[in-house]
Amino acid sequence: MEDYILTVKNLTKTFDDFKALNNISFNIKYGDFFGLIGPNGAGKSTLLRILYDIVIPDSGSVYINGFNLKRDYKKIKYGLGIVPQDDNLDEDLSVFENLLIYSMYFGIPKKESMKRSDELLIFFNLTDKKYSKVADLSGGLRRRLMIARALINDPSLIILDEPTTGLDPEYRQNIWNKLTVLNKNGVTILMSTHYMDEAERLFRNMIILNRGNIVLSGCINDITLNKKSLEEIFLDIAKNNK
Ligand SMILES: Nc1ncnc2c1ncn2[C@@H]1O[C@H](COP(=O)(O)OP(=O)(O)OP(=O)(O)O)[C@@H](O)[C@H]1O
Ligand SMILES: [Mg+2]
Repeated sequence: MEDYILTVKNLTKTFDDFKALNNISFNIKYGDFFGLIGPNGAGKSTLLRILYDIVIPDSGSVYINGFNLKRDYKKIKYGLGIVPQDDNLDEDLSVFENLLIYSMYFGIPKKESMKRSDELLIFFNLTDKKYSKVADLSGGLRRRLMIARALINDPSLIILDEPTTGLDPEYRQNIWNKLTVLNKNGVTILMSTHYMDEAERLFRNMIILNRGNIVLSGCINDITLNKKSLEEIFLDIAKNNK
């Protein structure tokens, strides 16, 4: 288990009588850039929400950084950065205040959190928006702030649920570049997307989920076997669901 930053074993989640996740198992190596792909309703967000302790699974186990999620989320959270699918920034506060308030959740001392916030604003080219109200930011800037916020505790693993959905090509590329730099600096990344060009470009390993099951997994060559593009594979899966 020490080789993996994240281990998921036999995870199942049912909503009423609907199986959103069916006996899912996979591992993520330290330093990986790991992708999660699948059509709408495949179970991606359910899986990610389980990993950041918003949804409780029916059965199965999760280990992050060697800690058991069920017992030790309080220890896990210090090493984890989270960018959920839905924007949950505080609208009425400034960009800077959003970062400072979030850092309190990790007990980071004020002086340190101000320093880290300033560094993150520089990294995400948000310095000129430091005192802007979040409500006044464009969608692309909000998304950058969501990622900046997820890094305030200097996590070893960041989990991002469709961080580039709805962004224009320039903003998408900007986020790819930032994530690539973070990954090169040793941060493990787990991220979902609907964009196959993004998946091909970023992910070293991935799983494809469909209707709560892992249908394909591995590196891009394992998945495509060099025969089809990821896009074609995705379309085949979606077509068979109809
Ligand atoms: N709290 C809930 N109550 C009932 N059903 C739910 C709940 N959360 C998710 N589901 C259902 O579980 C299935 C998987 O949803 P999930 O949000 O995990 O999919 P997804 O792969 O993230 O989809 P998308 O690409 O649209 O974000 C869907 O059919 C969804 O309706
Ligand atoms: Mg989702």
